[in-house]
Amino acid sequence: MRYVPRNCIQPNAVLAKPIHGVNGEVLLQEGVKMRINYIRRMEKLGIPGAYVHDALSEDMDIVSALSNELKAHAVKSISSCFSKIEQGKPLTQAETSNLMMTAEQIVDEILDQRGVMLNLLDLKVYDSYTYYHCVNVTVLSVVLGLGMDFPRTKLVNLAYAALLHDVGKVFVDPRIINLPRPLTPDEYAKVKLHPRLGYDYVKTYSPMSMSRTVLMGVLDHHERVDGSGYPSAKAGSKITVFGRIIAVADVYDALTSDRPYRKGIFAVDAMEYIQGAANTQFDFNIVNTFSRKVALFPAGTCVMLSNGSVGLVLENFEGLTQRPLVRIFEEDGVAVDFYELDLSKERFDLTIISTVEM
Ligand SMILES: [Fe+2]
Repeated sequence: MRYVPRNCIQPNAVLAKPIHGVNGEVLLQEGVKMRINYIRRMEKLGIPGAYVHDALSEDMDIVSALSNELKAHAVKSISSCFSKIEQGKPLTQAETSNLMMTAEQIVDEILDQRGVMLNLLDLKVYDSYTYYHCVNVTVLSVVLGLGMDFPRTKLVNLAYAALLHDVGKVFVDPRIINLPRPLTPDEYAKVKLHPRLGYDYVKTYSPMSMSRTVLMGVLDHHERVDGSGYPSAKAGSKITVFGRIIAVADVYDALTSDRPYRKGIFAVDAMEYIQGAANTQFDFNIVNTFSRKVALFPAGTCVMLSNGSVGLVLENFEGLTQRPLVRIFEEDGVAVDFYELDLSKERFDLTIISTVEM
């Protein structure tokens, strides 16, 4: 199976994993044959792609960062908490413990796959929904925390902070949040209030036992190491480590997601942006960890090599994210019998020059 962008899914392709709705419900089951109207519906709903079976990738074993079940469960927990807060009601003890349990489950699933380069390609289930964004940012943050050797308790607190990082957006006019264009300075000033509003809410209504690091992660996630961020224009190590981690995860997910007024960019381009902003926007060490742990060309991506060959990325190796194992299927525009090329071990004269959508 492989993950195929929506615009490249062929009618009659067979779904290899179910497609979920915004609240985690199953919209299309695994095994369903895709029809044109299903693909159009995906477009309407903002679903960027799906897993399908094809000959090229039939034996591929994709290790998703998060199981479908847990992803759906996490989205449900977040959406029910956020809608309760929207109605002005405080969260109950049961709801906050459910969210904490979700944070623990996410950490444990990621810990179970320790040592494997996680595939983050299919994290993008929906582009413009805050709930999915929160889950994506949580997974990316935990992967970063793991790369920094955090113990489990610290990872769980980090996951909790990441799940809640944008809770303050509930208090910002949704018409501004969902505007299909870049914001005016006035609108942006309103959006910039959300870390403080989120912090105030969590501080007032969360259990006494909540670690202060969680609160600070929520407050600091838009601060930048050069002091250009908000709400407090803190710089360097004055920004808590949770804030510095969530900042990288948040920007990466935003860059790779479609927005109503622009298309999401490829992982490799988002990574270049993040690396370029090391030491100005982002913490240098965290950017380094990110470059080591997050694949530039996630398994399932089609890539073009410098000699004109096109292939499917099968596997990534930690620390060697520019040199994955690739299955070549086209040379000079002509289909060839598949063969494998491990760029981490051979053909150092070749480089990957672009990602190909197909
Ligand atoms: Fe935010």
